Amino acid sequence: MCGIVAYIGHQQAYPIVLKGLKRLEYRGYDSAGVALLDTDLNIYKKAGKVSNLENFAEDKNLNSTVGIGHTRWATHGAPNDVNAHPHKSGNDRLAIIHNGIIENYDALKKELIKRGHIFESDTDTEVLIHLIEEIIAKDNVSLEEAVRYSLNEVIGAYAIVIIDKENPNKLIAARNSSPLVIGIGKEEFFVASDATPIIEFTKNVIYLDDEQVAIIERGQEIKIVDIANKQITPMIQELEMNLEAIEKGGYEHFMLKEIYEQPQSIRASMLGRLNSVTGEVTLGGVEEFEAKFMNADRIIFVACGTSWHSALVGEYMIEDLARIPVEVEYASEFRYRNPILSEKDIVIAISQSGETADTLAALELAKEKGATIYGICNVVGSSIARATDAGSYTHAGPEIGVASTKAFTAQITILALMALTLAQKKGSITKTRYQELTNQLNDIPRLVGKVLESNEQIKYIAEQYKDAANFLYLGRGYNFPVALEGALKLKEISYIHAEGYPAAEMKHGPIALIDENMPVVAIATRIANYQKVVSNIQEVKARNGNIIGIVTEGDEAIRAISEHVIEIPATDEFLDPLISVIPLQLLSYHIAVMRDCNVDQPRNLAKSVTVE
Ligand code: M6R
Repeated sequence: MCGIVAYIGHQQAYPIVLKGLKRLEYRGYDSAGVALLDTDLNIYKKAGKVSNLENFAEDKNLNSTVGIGHTRWATHGAPNDVNAHPHKSGNDRLAIIHNGIIENYDALKKELIKRGHIFESDTDTEVLIHLIEEIIAKDNVSLEEAVRYSLNEVIGAYAIVIIDKENPNKLIAARNSSPLVIGIGKEEFFVASDATPIIEFTKNVIYLDDEQVAIIERGQEIKIVDIANKQITPMIQELEMNLEAIEKGGYEHFMLKEIYEQPQSIRASMLGRLNSVTGEVTLGGVEEFEAKFMNADRIIFVACGTSWHSALVGEYMIEDLARIPVEVEYASEFRYRNPILSEKDIVIAISQSGETADTLAALELAKEKGATIYGICNVVGSSIARATDAGSYTHAGPEIGVASTKAFTAQITILALMALTLAQKKGSITKTRYQELTNQLNDIPRLVGKVLESNEQIKYIAEQYKDAANFLYLGRGYNFPVALEGALKLKEISYIHAEGYPAAEMKHGPIALIDENMPVVAIATRIANYQKVVSNIQEVKARNGNIIGIVTEGDEAIRAISEHVIEIPATDEFLDPLISVIPLQLLSYHIAVMRDCNVDQPRNLAKSVTVE
């Protein structure tokens, strides 16, 4: 949550910071602001999107070669102008941008008020900059020392950058549990929550670690220390991402682009892992930890949102093929419920961003308790990826739309590869079945391409139901998590209430909701329990529900009882979620567009949830 950007160098800072904020807007869009240093410290901030700030700042003094900027997802304090970042110290000398939460801000604020500090906002961040100001004055220390001292007093998560009127050639940045990347250009530096604002200027970056402080000075080598002042040797890494990947490329929305990218992103997830000639699967992280996986008592997945739905698919896949017991946990519950864990457990975190606070905390808890920890992340160098003993990147490319699409199918691809690898190593799969599944997996990108051809038909269906107040999604077996995912997609971007249910569970309650106004999306491909799903759909029909069936090509039985059917190619049910989810993504996309919703940045949400 919240995006931060900073620049110091020889160029004008404002255009760089503003463009960076637009790239980071997916992280929060409640307000935006910048602080620039000309002869004075100029702060401009506005509630709402970055474009509001842009209009507001148009006629202001924007001259500065150093600047910081912030786009906010509100936690402490309403999303208004006053609570927007940057926040300044009481003496107007310092300004700060912050992503994270200072948990003990209230106690610190009370102390500072006693010492005469006056606060303008309701934010935790303003407390931190006043604390730094207080330490500079009381201890007569430099800015960097004061930052370190203050961070020793702070409990919580932070990625911060501070600008100082008395040190116009310097920025101080620090992080703990919130991401922060520093770009090293030619006599210029960039700081941001992720690499997207940096990529067009330099590929050389440093990922700051927890409790590290960077002293960034114009014309100097960057200096990094930890909060105890131990010198750290900066590790410069090269970014692999390219600029095209983070632009819309002619699509109206990032979400649509990302839906259409799935044939390529699924292929990228398999690249170097599935040999299309021999059908052999090699998943690096699993090979590395082979002994642990072979002796594991359990695999426990921890994840949130869409990634949690992928984990459910992973449970079905691994138990089905590799016969290893699997549990799936909401990371936010797992971390606080004192779970029983042992050294023979493998805890796998699934996260697109690799920054989800609950998932990271669940993983850290598992590590403390001696479990082996593994990460399935999309963002290279993210906190979860770096915290794990081993892992597999999904390689789906940057996902900018807040609603996760290509990350879901990439995660499932990795989980399929994992299940196949484990099953082969355990000897729990026949050679023929293994070959059959790897051949079909290899063909999935083509099949996804075929499903995408139904876009116009799906758009037509969206038009029929765009005004519905509720939706029900039903699926069985591998398609049950897909039903959950379809419902989540619809509610998060179109604000229509939707629920996903195991088809057979409907009769235990939700059936009471069904009448002629209820659209029911039934994911009813030709899987083992096909006939039972048909019976469940009959139960909907008998109560006048409107059925939209996602069916296997050539299906007649469901067509006969449905208002609409969307055909998808036949595949083994093990791989079904990779294609059955595509029509659901498109359906929610079109409904949201028709309802005039902000598809890429739905209200109240943010792409990466770095708060509890
Ligand atoms: O980055 P992560 O995969 O850890 O994010 C988890 C959820 O916040 C995320 O999947 C969220 O539910 C999406 N908005 C769903 O589209």
